[in-house]
Amino acid sequence: MTKSLPLILVAFLAIGSCQPTKRTVSQGKGVYQFLNDDTTRRNLSPFFSDRAGVVADHGMVSSAHPVASRVGVDILEAGGTAIDAAIAVKFALAVVHPSAGNLGGGGFVVYREQSGRAYTLDFREKAPAKAFRDMYLDSTGNVIAGLSFTGHLASGVPGTVAGMVETHRRFGKLAWETLLAPAIQLADRGVRLTAKEAQALNRVKADLERLNPGKNYLIKPTDWLEGDTLVQKDLAKTLGRIRDGKRAGFYAGETARLLTEEMQRGGGLITQPDLDGYQAVWREPITATYKDYKIISMPPPTSGGVALIQLLKMVENYPLARWGWNADSTVMVMIEAERRVYADRAKFLGDPDFVKIPVTELVSKTYLRNRMADFSFAKASESKNISGGRIPGYESSETTHFSVVDRDGNAVAITTTLNGGYGSRVFVGGAGFLLNNEMDDFSAKPGVPNAYGLVGAEANAIQPGKRMLSAMTPTIVEKEGKLYLVVGTPGGSTIITSVFQTILNVLEHGMTMQQAVSALKFHHQWLPDKTIYEQNAFSPATVRFLQERGQVLEELKGTIGRMDAILKRADGKLEGGADPRADDTAVGY
Ligand code: DON
Repeated sequence: MTKSLPLILVAFLAIGSCQPTKRTVSQGKGVYQFLNDDTTRRNLSPFFSDRAGVVADHGMVSSAHPVASRVGVDILEAGGTAIDAAIAVKFALAVVHPSAGNLGGGGFVVYREQSGRAYTLDFREKAPAKAFRDMYLDSTGNVIAGLSFTGHLASGVPGTVAGMVETHRRFGKLAWETLLAPAIQLADRGVRLTAKEAQALNRVKADLERLNPGKNYLIKPTDWLEGDTLVQKDLAKTLGRIRDGKRAGFYAGETARLLTEEMQRGGGLITQPDLDGYQAVWREPITATYKDYKIISMPPPTSGGVALIQLLKMVENYPLARWGWNADSTVMVMIEAERRVYADRAKFLGDPDFVKIPVTELVSKTYLRNRMADFSFAKASESKNISGGRIPGYESSETTHFSVVDRDGNAVAITTTLNGGYGSRVFVGGAGFLLNNEMDDFSAKPGVPNAYGLVGAEANAIQPGKRMLSAMTPTIVEKEGKLYLVVGTPGGSTIITSVFQTILNVLEHGMTMQQAVSALKFHHQWLPDKTIYEQNAFSPATVRFLQERGQVLEELKGTIGRMDAILKRADGKLEGGADPRADDTAVGY
């Protein structure tokens, strides 16, 4: 696995004049503000595709796979809550979307009850007890390429099953068995591969064969084709043990034995005491206001919530709606906010159980105003001159997202991951599931970029039992005290900026949910010092404007994000937006 930023980002992965003329464009039912006097934009669609949103009265699921979304709506129609549906979708994705769905990974739940109370659950993986700070360095102190990314040493202790069991224990209404049943059936009887799933499997075939000698899961002598049936009998048995034993069906007994044996076979670190000790943790949601809206998001150990709120507060006082979507000034200010926020991320953020994180200071108005004090529309800042901010008293000491809303207005946003596509690419022999490669999200060595080009320091150094820093940003937005948006996406380091743009697309630019998801995106993460953007995200004039002011731009061949989101419209209906960049599908009823 190469460590170059674009390769990973490509797999998943604004400004104008200050005196714009107003132009309102209608598309389908939606109307969005396209306020820009940039004539070079006129023939460029701002959207990846012209897919229409899915509108329904009662409930909605938007996920990476049509079958998983259908499973969720079936649960809602059977009287399940958003939580019940989310659990069923999570297990279904583990079957139908093997590159990211996962039993062997981890993630985060953001849940907002219809009453307005919000909760967040951290089921992020943890470093095994035998992990140590320099475990990915050679004898001369250099990072050994690929060691934290592929193979047995790349895995953290999985959190997914503990997370789902805990979510169900606290908030589930339907029986646990009912929620596992669809996934078990899909694994046992088989699922038809989409063209994209087939291609993805073919791309990782060499790694799967090399790391899993003698195992035949997801491996076929010939190439996978669209429409092939993928049967996963061992996975069905593992899911059956989870159905019968809940937590013990994964962290003890047969599944645990298979997992620890797999670790021994391949020189991995996870042991039975690691599995016994794994707990999902309820954490206080991070919240903030943006104009009339309330943002509810995930606190550390993901950087997502903190960074998203920093970004929104940094741009809040600029007239983005007046400038227009991806107009010169809009993009300039967003890029410069992103540069500063990702520098803070690298310096301050890590597992709150291990490092003190100055969250209150990082999202405070004064701090963020000072951070943007040297911003200028005339000239790009240079990342080498920007470092994490100064906070008095602070001592340096393939992912998938889905959104669910039920008929009562309860809302769930879950982002969950194996990290890279198909994780470590190691199967637990006999158990039929892949293990994560989340250890790569730690900073293997201060200043050395990980697979997403992200750098880190002390706060995200490896320690036994510590959670690695994430960028996942499952988020719920309220408008005037009521549910408004449920959003999130995979995409590694681009997750935060994709969620940022999608929220602004609705709140500032008046897009529908689907338009906001389909809208072309861009991303800056401090280091490397450049802005990547999807084809046509910027007009030729905007590209010139940015380059003349010193912004380094790189047009991607691939795409950014795979956003699955839900909007509660003013007429009370739900609009599901599913990312047209992949197989993502919204289903409502
Ligand atoms: O937790 C994180 O931030 C990463 N492990 C997410 C990886 C990811 O989004 C890959 N999928 N596109």
